[in-house]
Formats: sequence, C-alpha cells, structure tokens
Amino acid sequence: PAYEVPLRRKQAVLKIGHRGASGYRPENTLSSFKKAIELKVDFIELDIQLSKDGQIVVFHDPTVDRTTNGKGEIRDYTYEELFLLDAGSWFHPNFSNEYIPLLSEVLDISLPDTGLIIELKNPHLSPGIELKLADELLKRKWDSEKFAGILVQSFDKETIKRFHALLPEIPIGIIVRYNPKGISDSFLNEVSSYAAFVNPKRSMITPNLIERIHSKGMKVFTWTVNDKKQVAKLLSYDLDGITTDYPDLF
Ligand code: G3P
Ligand code: CA
Repeated sequence: PAYEVPLRRKQAVLKIGHRGASGYRPENTLSSFKKAIELKVDFIELDIQLSKDGQIVVFHDPTVDRTTNGKGEIRDYTYEELFLLDAGSWFHPNFSNEYIPLLSEVLDISLPDTGLIIELKNPHLSPGIELKLADELLKRKWDSEKFAGILVQSFDKETIKRFHALLPEIPIGIIVRYNPKGISDSFLNEVSSYAAFVNPKRSMITPNLIERIHSKGMKVFTWTVNDKKQVAKLLSYDLDGITTDYPDLF
C-alpha cells in the first residue's frame, strides 16, 4: 500500500464503534458518538452522504424513513430540513432531541483523542462527495497528528480511488460484503496498490485470509461483531480492528 495505517491502539486490537455506540444510542447521532468516546473506542465509524444543498451529513440509509420521523430520500432534503427531523425517538423516546449531524460537528468532538473511520455511503446518490470530503478535511489545516486519526472507507472501489487521488495522505480501505467464494488474490493484489486496509464482513474472516491480506501489506478490520464469544474468538486471531455496536464488549 501507499502508506501504513497509523495504529492508535488503546488496546491490542483496535476497538471501532459502529455508527458510534449504536447498541446504546441512536446510530450516527452526537449522543452515539459521545457514548463511543466515553467507552474509549480507538475509532468511531460513521457514514456520510450529501444533502440536497451539498452539506456532508452523517447518515446511513438512502432514505430517512427508518431512523427519523421523516419520509423519503435524504438527497431530497436540504440540511436545514434534515436538522429539524427527530433522529432519536425511533430508538427510544429519551433521545427525541437527537438530529442528523454534519460531519464537521463530529470532527470537532472526536479528534485528536478518538479517530474517525469515515465511510463514503451510497456514493452514487451523493455525486461529488469525494471532493467535498477532501475540502472539509483540508480546510481545517490540521497538524499531522490529527490527520493521523482519520481513515476513509467504502464498499465502492471507484469512490475510494477518486478520494485517494484528491487526498493521498489519508489512508483508505475497502469494505467487503460476504461472498461465499471468498476474496481472490487478484482482488487483493489490485486493492493493495492503493488501500491501506481491507474490512471484510465477519463471516469471511479466517486466519488464512488475515495472513493473505497482511502478506500484501494491508491491515485487516472486520464488521460488525456484537457477540462476546465471537469477539473472544476473533481476539485470538491476528486481526487489526473489530467493529462493534457495543464498544464495552471487549
Ligand atoms: O465498517 C463497515 C460497516 O459499517 C459496513 O456496513 O451497513 O453498517 O455501513 P454498514
Ligand atoms: Ca458504515
């Protein structure tokens, strides 16, 4: 790969809080990110998309239906409209004040102590998001230590490559869905020319796969592990990071 993932280990394997601490708080909200920080994650994982007016918002689904009191596609709402939606009550009535945050708000509360793994989500619905993200990060004029706390990932190789061309200092990774055929050597060879880590779904992880990814010079993360026994098993492997909704599980 072009560079190493800067490991910020608070523990032997990186603890990555999925959408914050989404087992305990409504996903991708500031309360979820603050809870993840309280539970001492190394990295917060979050999803970004663009609003109708081109703001970078933290949100997972293509529509607002599941996790807010609104309806319809996120890209059809301006940020001002999104801000008014209740993004917490679906999880528990206590969180009715939670809203869809801007990425900039999360950058402000997490770094430098807690890193961020920013996922470019549904990139075909947010054209131009790679450039917006590069601008958002560059305008902060961070010192190298802060920059070292940011990783960017996507399922979409083209999106990842576009972002990498814009801001090569930030390590990038490719997320891999379950595929019964496994992960081929030709895939690993190709992504190792730009990616610093591979993030396969947990059901694909074997000691052999970890070794193959490591042999290409990339780190190995996995998602999403919410079962204590599975965490214990994975901790016996040579993994680099585990993504969980319950960051106090290990
Ligand atoms: O870190 C990978 C994981 O977040 C990908 O799945 O659907 O939770 O974004 P998803
Ligand atoms: Ca994600």
